[in-house]
Amino acid sequence: MIKVEHLSKSFNKTKAVDNISFEVAEGENLVLLGTSGCGKTTTLKMINRLIEPDQGKVFIHGQNIMDQQPETLRRGIGYVLQNNGLFPHYTVAENIAVVPQLLKWNKKQTQHRVSELLEKLHLDKKYLSVYPNELSGGQQQRVGLARALVTDPAVLLMDEPFGALDTVTRSKIQAEFKALDELKRKTIIMVTHDVQEAFELGDRICLMDKGKIVQNGLPGDLLFKPVNAFVRDFLKDQRLQLEFKAIKLRDIIDLRPKGGVFELHGEVLSQNISLWHVLEGFKFSKAENLHIIDHYSKKKTVLGFEGLMTAFYQYKKRQAHE
Ligand SMILES: Nc1ncnc2c1ncn2[C@@H]1O[C@H](COP(=O)(O)OP(=O)(O)OP(=O)(O)O)[C@@H](O)[C@H]1O
Ligand SMILES: [Mg+2]
Repeated sequence: MIKVEHLSKSFNKTKAVDNISFEVAEGENLVLLGTSGCGKTTTLKMINRLIEPDQGKVFIHGQNIMDQQPETLRRGIGYVLQNNGLFPHYTVAENIAVVPQLLKWNKKQTQHRVSELLEKLHLDKKYLSVYPNELSGGQQQRVGLARALVTDPAVLLMDEPFGALDTVTRSKIQAEFKALDELKRKTIIMVTHDVQEAFELGDRICLMDKGKIVQNGLPGDLLFKPVNAFVRDFLKDQRLQLEFKAIKLRDIIDLRPKGGVFELHGEVLSQNISLWHVLEGFKFSKAENLHIIDHYSKKKTVLGFEGLMTAFYQYKKRQAHE
């Protein structure tokens, strides 16, 4: 869906982005991770032509973005700016409706879509007529997200969308974000400097340093097959938590035959769910056991916390031997 080839950009004498290439598949969420100044924002802005590259090419849906008008291109891509970038002199409703206005949607259609998004993003209708500075940080970020989603673009670029939030609000919005149906179909590139967030939300992670990509892979690849000491060091804080987030339930428990499901407290879990979320399920729903149910034979296997940990350590051992 998105293909970036040998992108470079210098500002004066600084090489902000230095020969970067990567691809993002349709529906995938790629996270650009790295410390401040490593070139994440510059990379993102070259994809919607807010910055023109010195070298390299970007293709979206097979089309070279240089063959399109920048304005047309940008209308087709949702963009959440670092520090939310809301217009201070526009109300919430006007902020969300910027692109529909440009596209000359009729009033009714716009109003309908704006209210629909407010509801999905858990923002009360009473905020429609207020200005961004009257909102909390979390509310502002929700408005920023609504603005990016309003035309239902297939591609979404998000620059530190949860950056300015305290840890509790951040986890809450991240959880909502993951649950949002509208986002599941989208191809997303998300920028963050927060390792835990990258592991929480990324299908794949591109770790950057000094304008270059150091490693691009599945979260588990970066953890268990780091290409160098930089990658290993970058992930060394709260490593256990990262491992729980990177390892999916289906990685450690074989589901055979294919029709099997995992259930926790009577609720069917996605096979893609991370160990971290199963453990949270144990904690918050006070469930004691995970049930593994074979749809055909109706055979049920019960797995408690200890059994899960044993499977986890066995998985890690296998990774170490590979
Ligand atoms: N418009 C500009 N003019 C000059 N230098 C710039 C400009 N934009 C970015 N830079 C420089 O390019 C480098 C990369 O900046 P960029 O904003 O892409 O980093 P970042 O990874 O997004 O950082 P942060 O996490 O702090 O947002 C930095 O050294 C920065 O100072
Ligand atoms: Mg940035």
